[in-house]
Amino acid sequence: MKPFLFVTDLDDTLVYRTVGDDSALAELNQLLSQHRQEYGTKIVYATGRSPVLYKELQAQKNLLQPDALVLSVGTEIYLNGTDTPDSGWAEILSPGWNRETVLSITKKYRELVRQPDSEQRPFKVSFFLQEDFSAIVLPQLEAELQKNKLNVKLIYSSSIDLDIVPYSSDKGQAMQFLRQKWKFAAEQTVVCGDSGNDIALFAVGNERGIIVGNARKELLQWHNEHLADYRYLAKSFCAGGIIEGLKFFGLLE
Ligand code: GLC
Ligand code: MG
Repeated sequence: MKPFLFVTDLDDTLVYRTVGDDSALAELNQLLSQHRQEYGTKIVYATGRSPVLYKELQAQKNLLQPDALVLSVGTEIYLNGTDTPDSGWAEILSPGWNRETVLSITKKYRELVRQPDSEQRPFKVSFFLQEDFSAIVLPQLEAELQKNKLNVKLIYSSSIDLDIVPYSSDKGQAMQFLRQKWKFAAEQTVVCGDSGNDIALFAVGNERGIIVGNARKELLQWHNEHLADYRYLAKSFCAGGIIEGLKFFGLLE
């Protein structure tokens, strides 16, 4: 068995966000920590959560200590359990990013409801946006941000969460940063997700992909339009679907 780079979203991918049966999680944790010990496999969590909300979940679900953390939809990378975001990554995101201008434009849209303060981050501005409004608001907002020469990306997930981040940033770019740093081949890298902010993980290259059985419609739609033999749609939900996919790719026995 060879080491692999394991990158997973948390909410509704590794763990159930609200209610659900996390029993497969214990089995997956056991398999992964053993693989890490024996072969040097690396574990990365890539989530939309801020440090505050990540710590909450970590305590609730007793998550394994990861080798790196990608927080705030890819805008922050934390290596080896440190509390300070990687400065090399911040340098890549800084050019052209102007938080204040983004805020002054978004203020004009009544449909955008600010998420809690903890989720507003140096390189991420986040709102709730009801799905009914999204088809009209998103293109308008995108055009207006572009007109102001703001080099940003809009990421809409789970029919409610809207994140505005630097264009050079998302979970996929952050994953590539770590993959190159640790020198894992795409064939020895696997990414797992369930919703819109995970599309970047699957779309950035030809890493192995696992879509859990409970995935959201925006990800399923993207998957059906971009079928690839290096991406697997699991039948089981959450951690159970991840185990299914790791076996499918022969990364786990
Ligand atoms: C997490 C974050 C939130 C973000 C969402 C989607 O729920 O807390 O700020 O909008 O992920 O990326
Ligand atoms: Mg998720």
